Amino acid sequence: MERRTFLKWVGVGGLASSLPVAIAACGNIAASPGPESGRRPGTSGFSNSGYTKVGTVSALDKSGRLRKKTTASSVLVIRDPNDSDTLHAVEPICTHQGCEVSWRNREQNIFCACHGSTFDPDGSVIRGPATSPLKSYPVKVEGNSILVKMS
Ligand code: FES
Repeated sequence: MERRTFLKWVGVGGLASSLPVAIAACGNIAASPGPESGRRPGTSGFSNSGYTKVGTVSALDKSGRLRKKTTASSVLVIRDPNDSDTLHAVEPICTHQGCEVSWRNREQNIFCACHGSTFDPDGSVIRGPATSPLKSYPVKVEGNSILVKMS
Protein backbone atom coordinates (compact mmCIF):
# COMPACT_ATOMS: atom_id res chain seq x y z
CA MET A 1 0.00 0.00 0.00
CA GLU A 2 1.33 3.41 -0.91
CA ARG A 3 1.80 6.00 1.82
CA ARG A 4 -0.82 8.37 0.35
CA THR A 5 -3.44 5.59 0.06
CA PHE A 6 -2.70 4.48 3.61
CA LEU A 7 -3.22 8.04 5.01
CA LYS A 8 -6.54 8.42 3.16
CA TRP A 9 -7.65 5.07 4.51
CA VAL A 10 -6.69 5.98 8.08
CA GLY A 11 -8.37 9.41 7.72
CA VAL A 12 -11.67 7.93 6.57
CA GLY A 13 -11.47 5.25 9.24
CA GLY A 14 -10.72 7.81 11.93
CA LEU A 15 -13.67 9.94 10.86
CA ALA A 16 -15.94 6.92 10.71
CA SER A 17 -14.86 5.72 14.16
CA SER A 18 -15.25 9.14 15.78
CA LEU A 19 -18.69 9.85 14.27
CA PRO A 20 -20.61 7.68 16.76
CA VAL A 21 -18.74 9.35 19.62
CA ALA A 22 -19.66 12.81 18.28
CA ILE A 23 -23.31 11.80 17.87
CA ALA A 24 -23.39 10.36 21.39
CA ALA A 25 -21.89 13.56 22.75
CA CYS A 26 -24.61 15.61 21.05
CA GLY A 27 -27.19 13.28 22.55
CA ASN A 28 -25.76 13.86 26.00
CA ILE A 29 -25.99 17.61 25.56
CA ALA A 30 -29.65 17.37 24.56
CA ALA A 31 -30.43 15.11 27.52
CA SER A 32 -28.46 17.07 30.07
CA PRO A 33 -30.43 18.58 32.94
CA GLY A 34 -31.83 22.07 32.57
CA PRO A 35 -30.32 25.12 34.19
CA GLU A 36 -32.52 24.85 37.28
CA SER A 37 -31.77 21.29 38.28
CA GLY A 38 -29.13 20.49 40.79
CA ARG A 39 -28.69 23.98 42.12
CA ARG A 40 -28.09 24.56 45.75
CA PRO A 41 -30.60 26.23 48.05
CA GLY A 42 -30.35 29.97 48.06
CA THR A 43 -29.41 30.25 44.40
CA SER A 44 -31.78 31.53 41.78
CA GLY A 45 -34.03 28.83 40.38
CA PHE A 46 -33.34 26.23 43.09
CA SER A 47 -35.55 23.22 42.60
CA ASN A 48 -36.15 20.68 45.39
CA SER A 49 -39.03 18.20 45.58
CA GLY A 50 -40.77 20.02 42.78
CA TYR A 51 -40.51 23.40 44.46
CA THR A 52 -38.71 26.20 42.65
CA LYS A 53 -37.38 29.34 44.24
CA VAL A 54 -39.21 32.26 42.68
CA GLY A 55 -37.75 35.05 44.77
CA THR A 56 -37.32 36.37 48.26
CA VAL A 57 -39.70 37.60 50.93
CA SER A 58 -37.89 40.93 50.99
CA ALA A 59 -38.35 41.35 47.22
CA LEU A 60 -42.04 40.47 47.51
CA ASP A 61 -42.57 42.96 50.31
CA LYS A 62 -40.71 45.65 48.38
CA SER A 63 -42.62 45.31 45.09
CA GLY A 64 -45.95 43.87 46.31
CA ARG A 65 -45.73 40.88 43.95
CA LEU A 66 -43.26 38.45 42.42
CA ARG A 67 -43.26 37.08 38.89
CA LYS A 68 -41.19 34.19 37.64
CA LYS A 69 -41.21 32.66 34.19
CA THR A 70 -39.68 29.30 33.41
CA THR A 71 -39.57 27.40 30.17
CA ALA A 72 -42.63 25.39 31.26
CA SER A 73 -44.79 27.92 33.08
CA SER A 74 -45.00 31.24 34.86
CA VAL A 75 -46.15 32.25 38.30
CA LEU A 76 -47.36 35.36 40.10
CA VAL A 77 -46.91 35.44 43.89
CA ILE A 78 -48.95 37.83 46.02
CA ARG A 79 -49.26 38.37 49.76
CA ASP A 80 -52.91 38.13 50.83
CA PRO A 81 -54.10 41.70 51.61
CA ASN A 82 -56.34 40.39 54.42
CA ASP A 83 -53.87 37.92 55.94
CA SER A 84 -50.23 38.93 55.70
CA ASP A 85 -49.13 35.41 56.71
CA THR A 86 -50.68 33.92 53.58
CA LEU A 87 -49.10 33.92 50.14
CA HIS A 88 -50.88 33.06 46.92
CA ALA A 89 -49.16 31.70 43.83
CA VAL A 90 -51.19 31.69 40.61
CA GLU A 91 -50.50 31.23 36.94
CA PRO A 92 -50.82 34.74 35.49
CA ILE A 93 -52.75 33.58 32.44
CA CYS A 94 -56.40 34.59 32.14
CA THR A 95 -58.80 31.66 31.97
CA HIS A 96 -61.05 33.52 29.54
CA GLN A 97 -58.87 33.62 26.42
CA GLY A 98 -55.33 33.33 27.69
CA CYS A 99 -54.14 36.92 28.05
CA GLU A 100 -51.50 37.72 30.64
CA VAL A 101 -52.93 39.17 33.84
CA SER A 102 -51.28 41.56 36.27
CA TRP A 103 -51.52 42.45 39.94
CA ARG A 104 -53.10 45.83 40.70
CA ASN A 105 -51.68 46.96 43.99
CA ARG A 106 -54.08 49.87 44.54
CA GLU A 107 -57.19 47.77 43.82
CA GLN A 108 -55.66 44.68 45.48
CA ASN A 109 -56.78 42.37 42.68
CA ILE A 110 -55.51 40.61 39.58
CA PHE A 111 -56.70 42.19 36.35
CA CYS A 112 -56.86 41.11 32.73
CA ALA A 113 -56.67 44.10 30.41
CA CYS A 114 -57.96 42.16 27.39
CA HIS A 115 -61.63 41.99 28.40
CA GLY A 116 -61.66 43.15 32.01
CA SER A 117 -61.80 39.94 34.02
CA THR A 118 -60.83 40.50 37.63
CA PHE A 119 -59.57 37.94 40.13
CA ASP A 120 -59.00 37.81 43.86
CA PRO A 121 -55.40 37.33 45.07
CA ASP A 122 -56.15 33.60 45.42
CA GLY A 123 -57.18 33.47 41.75
CA SER A 124 -60.94 33.20 42.20
CA VAL A 125 -63.11 35.18 39.78
CA ILE A 126 -64.49 38.53 40.97
CA ARG A 127 -65.78 39.67 37.60
CA GLY A 128 -65.97 38.00 34.17
CA PRO A 129 -66.09 37.30 31.35
CA ALA A 130 -63.75 34.66 32.81
CA THR A 131 -65.72 31.99 34.68
CA SER A 132 -62.88 29.80 35.95
CA PRO A 133 -60.32 30.71 38.60
CA LEU A 134 -56.65 31.19 37.79
CA LYS A 135 -54.59 28.05 38.21
CA SER A 136 -52.99 28.11 41.66
CA TYR A 137 -49.79 26.49 42.90
CA PRO A 138 -48.60 25.37 46.34
CA VAL A 139 -46.30 28.01 47.84
CA LYS A 140 -44.10 28.00 50.94
CA VAL A 141 -41.50 30.16 52.63
CA GLU A 142 -38.14 28.84 53.80
CA GLY A 143 -36.05 31.50 55.46
CA ASN A 144 -36.13 34.44 53.07
CA SER A 145 -36.89 32.26 50.04
CA ILE A 146 -40.30 31.84 48.43
CA LEU A 147 -40.73 28.41 46.87
CA VAL A 148 -43.51 27.42 44.47
CA LYS A 149 -44.43 23.99 43.15
CA MET A 150 -45.22 24.75 39.51
CA SER A 151 -46.28 21.33 38.25
S1 FES B 1 -58.66 37.06 28.07
FE1 FES B 1 -58.85 37.89 30.04
S2 FES B 1 -60.81 38.73 30.08
FE2 FES B 1 -60.66 37.89 28.12
